[in-house]
Amino acid sequence: MLKNLTPQPPDKIIEMIGLFRADTRTDKLDLGVGVYKDDAGKTPVMRCVKAAEARLVAEQDSKSYVGLLGDLGFVDLMRDLVLGDTVSANRVVGAQAPGGTGAIHQLLELVKLAHPNATVWYSDPTWPNHPAMVKHMQMKAATYRYFDTQTRGVDFDGMMGDLAGVAADDVVILHGCCHNPTGANLSADQWEQVTDLLQAKGATPFIDFAYQGFGDGLEQDAAAVRQMAARVPQMLLAASCSKNFGLYRDRVGMALVLTPDAETHGLTKGALASLNRLNFSFPPDHGAKVVQMILSDPELRADWQAELEEMRLRMLDLRTGLAEALRRETNSDDFDFVAHHRGMFSRLGLPGEQVQALRDDSGIYMVGDSRINVAGLPATGMDALAKAIVASRP
Ligand code: LMR
Repeated sequence: MLKNLTPQPPDKIIEMIGLFRADTRTDKLDLGVGVYKDDAGKTPVMRCVKAAEARLVAEQDSKSYVGLLGDLGFVDLMRDLVLGDTVSANRVVGAQAPGGTGAIHQLLELVKLAHPNATVWYSDPTWPNHPAMVKHMQMKAATYRYFDTQTRGVDFDGMMGDLAGVAADDVVILHGCCHNPTGANLSADQWEQVTDLLQAKGATPFIDFAYQGFGDGLEQDAAAVRQMAARVPQMLLAASCSKNFGLYRDRVGMALVLTPDAETHGLTKGALASLNRLNFSFPPDHGAKVVQMILSDPELRADWQAELEEMRLRMLDLRTGLAEALRRETNSDDFDFVAHHRGMFSRLGLPGEQVQALRDDSGIYMVGDSRINVAGLPATGMDALAKAIVASRP
């Protein structure tokens, strides 16, 4: 039976982890997978996480099951973190999920249950796992233009032109902030226009919200999502605690659904509980409990926000540093966009052969579409990096 298996296409981002590890050069540079790194190149366990885990080990007196939707205390705190008080809590259903990816998966399954013929729209480009998951789940897919390769900003006219083809009950994946892979984001006014269009079409927004706190700040990064939630009857949102709590391997996420009325609320809650049961039964508790402890304890929460802000500001400094080094090296403002982008990534717009040359000749690893992880940039080696980028031009 197993001999019928065919090789699966590798994920372009995860593949990079293995390639980087296998490279024996000591001066190599990892700008690949989206994992935060400090000045020493380490992905730290956040201080508040260490403190909460110590408390959890001391206090926890049972490992029995919690509930199919996970810990509802976690769900409520996450709902407030994401949506603030924009919508009434009784319109929202939340289900804990194994990471942001798990939340996306559960929400796609929910869409499939509700409307098997729905087309799932995502930006071109997007996080490669979006198209891969939609394909794997045998759902209909369509793309909308997003990135202007000249300006390295959003191709808003292209985006709106393509989204004009959205049908009622289709689902449109939008990155709530910090677009992955481009780093180019919609303005508040553009979010309004997208909301108008989806409203007019009767389509449902599906927000991938994996980087809250990595762009312009915790509250600012949620502004667009809240602005949209305040206006639409229904919305799907996948939240991740991988990046902003640094809990990558613990798999902490939440599928959140904004429902239009009490009846739909009940049906959605039942469906999400059932989908959890069918896919993995109970979501993993440890990381979610840690997040719950942090968000509900004023001292831990303040420390979390302070450390998250340090991380965000460090990434902004690195952006400015690279933009300035490239300005000096190229004698142009061609790469100034790096300083204007937000979040963990920027797409540099280099051709594939240049990306490959940087890897082969200088041990500099970025994803094949020239996406860099800003957190991996070398604070003290920016000129050398800029020189290597210029030298590798085809
Ligand atoms: C990334 O885009 O690099 C991260 O979200 C990690 C992942 O799972 O792909």
